[in-house]
Amino acid sequence: RERTYIMVKPDGVDRGLVGDIIARFERRGFKLIAAKLASPGKEHLEKHYADLMGKPFFPGMIQYMLSGPVFAMVWEGLDAVKTGRVMLGATNPLESGPGTIRGDYALAVGRNICHGSDSVENAEKEIALWFPEGVLQYTRSQESKVFEI
Ligand code: GTP
Ligand code: MG
Repeated sequence: RERTYIMVKPDGVDRGLVGDIIARFERRGFKLIAAKLASPGKEHLEKHYADLMGKPFFPGMIQYMLSGPVFAMVWEGLDAVKTGRVMLGATNPLESGPGTIRGDYALAVGRNICHGSDSVENAEKEIALWFPEGVLQYTRSQESKVFEI
């Protein structure tokens, strides 16, 4: 079963949106297998966003990510990476539909509330970076109501 790394960014934590974002993934049927509030340093964030280094907005984006704690999560389920991105909305919130996290709560690309892995390969890298201690494995009692097993 696929896993994705989802993170509430400092603006989302500051605006009190952690519970709402968890609730969206829970009610969809995804399984939470790791979660923590964290204050990552500059180097850690530069590793996370390494593919964007050199972009004009990179320094400002790192400053934004350093402005407060983030809430890091790993969610597991069918097509978790792609579905997670759909639930987040487009990178630019102005292009995000209502019903998505960014479409419901954000206006600016540089204050877009949440992060979601963009490929299965990157998800595995991000999970290893943010949760070197590993994730949990457990069975939910309602699993057969969510998945055909
Ligand atoms: P993440 O889930 O955070 O990785 O966003 P994404 O995958 O939708 O977009 P991408 O990885 O390309 O960019 C990472 C983050 O950089 C975005 O979420 C934005 O916060 C920021 N960003 C991307 N493009 C721009 C831009 O053109 N201007 C500004 N100010 N920020 C940008
Ligand atoms: Mg990205």
